[in-house]
Amino acid sequence: MESRYRALLEGPQANTEAWLEEQLRHARVLPDDLPDDPRKLPQWADEHTRRVANEHALYLQQRREGAPRRYFTNRAHALWFLHQVAPTKAVDGAWLHGMLWQWQDPRFHGLIRTFLEELGDGDPHCNHVLIFQRLLSRLGCRQSPPLEPARYLQGALQLALGQHCERFLPEVIGYNLGYEQPPLHLLITTHELAELGIDAHYFQLHVTIDNAASGHANLALSSFADLAQDEGPAFYERVRHGYRLNDLGDDTPSMVASFDLQTELFEALERKGLYGQCMHSDRCRLSGRTINEWLAEPGSMPAFVQALEDQGWVKRNADPKESRFWSVIEGPTAPMFGVFDAYEKQLWYDWIAGTWQGPAVRRVPPGQWERALQLQTQPPIFPRTTDVDTLIRAMAGNRHASQQGLNATRAFIQATGLMHGGLL
Ligand SMILES: [Fe+2]
Ligand SMILES: [Fe+2]
Repeated sequence: MESRYRALLEGPQANTEAWLEEQLRHARVLPDDLPDDPRKLPQWADEHTRRVANEHALYLQQRREGAPRRYFTNRAHALWFLHQVAPTKAVDGAWLHGMLWQWQDPRFHGLIRTFLEELGDGDPHCNHVLIFQRLLSRLGCRQSPPLEPARYLQGALQLALGQHCERFLPEVIGYNLGYEQPPLHLLITTHELAELGIDAHYFQLHVTIDNAASGHANLALSSFADLAQDEGPAFYERVRHGYRLNDLGDDTPSMVASFDLQTELFEALERKGLYGQCMHSDRCRLSGRTINEWLAEPGSMPAFVQALEDQGWVKRNADPKESRFWSVIEGPTAPMFGVFDAYEKQLWYDWIAGTWQGPAVRRVPPGQWERALQLQTQPPIFPRTTDVDTLIRAMAGNRHASQQGLNATRAFIQATGLMHGGLL
């Protein structure tokens, strides 16, 4: 799945339509919560919004009454989550790319507006893909651990749909209808990331921009109405199948719940072992074996970590600063400075800390860092004569997040007159 995702990022692939058909066959047999009568879609959206609001209020009340976080047991868990969703977030909006070709037809303008907002209208401050990438960079999490194939499925679907909007128009409309309804897990994620000192601007932004009153959720509904107007029941049936594509692969709450701190730590160490097994002097010994011997033997990490604990290098369920091992890996003068990246250090930290209630993390207001950012917006470099097709091609996949793609986005908006509120 990862190779399909990466190939689609590069551009159209020969077998994509057949692959999409196959995914739709999987989706077709799933249940959905859409009304049988499409005229009831506005009520359905209202009910969805109301239900999410009620469940969110209940969540907040439980938290006020002392309930623990529902999603993230610790900060490592939250960073792990960001890695898991990164392939999807890296192509935010991609399923709508092909709508751009229809820019002369007003019935498509709602979906095109949604797509342009995902791209921040070509402003790097507001481009969703860039906002997520900056979040990972600030956290020192640009480097991803290996992910399960399922994590690439939604991203691959989005890229594939975006490349075949014409053939799969009803399915794209349905997919968009599902993706743009703000779910409960988005609200919980936003709350708990901020609580763990992680700037949740990216998530907060989606709470507002996808809102049902005037945001992407509403545009998704009105676009359906515009485009399904003269169509029969078969069209709506296909919309429903596209909607169900959202349910293929992991659902967020169970994906979040599958995290296991110790397993993640051992796996991270196993990967490090490959590089570290020849880096230590033979004077470094632990329980009678050299560190190189420990690291050279696959599957020995649980015993290695146990030995660290037995020999007093690690004191669990206490402030990690009290562990000798922590001072070896953390800080600019630490002997192993730079060996572990930010995510791996957080795994160590939270595993050592265990039941120890650390110092309260300062809640980070979403957007704190994004506001501090001063980016220079460049004037479009595309000559006025560039044809719209060239601009559209420069906005495909996640290329719209490059300097060239941002310029193309602004030039596209100028060339087509599809600016929002006359602000450009
Ligand atoms: Fe987005
Ligand atoms: Fe959106």
